[in-house]
Amino acid sequence: MTPSDLTELESSLLAEIAAADSLEKLEAVRVSVLGRKGKITEQMKGLSSLEPSARKTLGQILNQIKDRLTKAIKTQQISLEATELKNRISGETSDVTLPPRPRKIGHIHPISQVMEECVEIFGEMGFLVAEGPDIEDDFHNFTALNIPPEHPARQMHDTFYLPENDEGSRLVLRTHTSPVQIRTMENNSPPIRIIAPGRTYRSDSDATHTPMFHQVEALVIDETTHMGHLKGCIIDFCRAFFGIPDLPVRFRPSHFPFTEPSMEVDIGCIRADGELKIGNFGEGADNWLEIMGSGMVHPKVLEYGGIDSNKYQGFAFGMGIDRLAMLKYGIPDLRTFFDTDLRWLSHYGFVPLGVPSMIRGL
Ligand code: PHE
Repeated sequence: MTPSDLTELESSLLAEIAAADSLEKLEAVRVSVLGRKGKITEQMKGLSSLEPSARKTLGQILNQIKDRLTKAIKTQQISLEATELKNRISGETSDVTLPPRPRKIGHIHPISQVMEECVEIFGEMGFLVAEGPDIEDDFHNFTALNIPPEHPARQMHDTFYLPENDEGSRLVLRTHTSPVQIRTMENNSPPIRIIAPGRTYRSDSDATHTPMFHQVEALVIDETTHMGHLKGCIIDFCRAFFGIPDLPVRFRPSHFPFTEPSMEVDIGCIRADGELKIGNFGEGADNWLEIMGSGMVHPKVLEYGGIDSNKYQGFAFGMGIDRLAMLKYGIPDLRTFFDTDLRWLSHYGFVPLGVPSMIRGL
């Protein structure tokens, strides 16, 4: 074919494309032009039998023609699609009596819910929320909390260590929220009244332990705060959290390097038929469940935090909130919290505020 033959072929093909008045017809034209046996494809194949110079000229022309035809097909396709859509829409009617499709809404994870509840209760008592990093240095996680290098508490905490850095020290995933006590003291002067909810990490995994879990820490420091305040604050919190006004709360002597004296806090419960219920079950029911550690802040810890321990004193406590969530909402296995299973979440999760629901109302 000569260049002018090709020009003629192009115009006739362009006319065919323009004449295709449906997507099916256009597809048929496309195959007949650019398909494996299409007219342009055949011409391309024919090039190999030509002399190099003719092959070059005709090849170039053919490529340009092919580009223009491809574009023309695309343009025609877009315009046919628009027409078809317009026709379809104008033929449709909407049935305004149909009920709306249910809107999918997310659920609040029980951990987030419980954290919010803690923030709300302590917020009413005048606490502010403080935060600290999940990746801590040895000083804030241990040393400043009066846990020196060889202290057995370091082993007890089953710490996750990061690889050694250039200065030869190793950062850790914080094993408790207590380092936020130190960070708060470093950056604020008393009076201090904070809670610190957050993630914590220990190398531990079974039905009641996950390597990542959550705690809420509380710290109060001023000139006059004493054990009576500690007890009152914790008792009020426990009763408000579980919604049980006469919930028994017991303080048992214990030991933490960062508090002196230290107490573990137990709440009343009953174990029956393999079930654990929180509440007041009368005199005889001597069943207790430990839920937090607490104590008066150790003077050394105040000093590490840059606070004068002759002038100031206070209390601190820390609790695991995953377990609080399990207890309050009857969730049997801790590990399921972190399986990211949507079915689990829609069962145990909470409907966000502001979304109308059968359970909660508006
Ligand atoms: N950090 C302690 C723990 O993780 C809890 C605690 C906090 C105890 C504050 C006393 C005071 O077990």
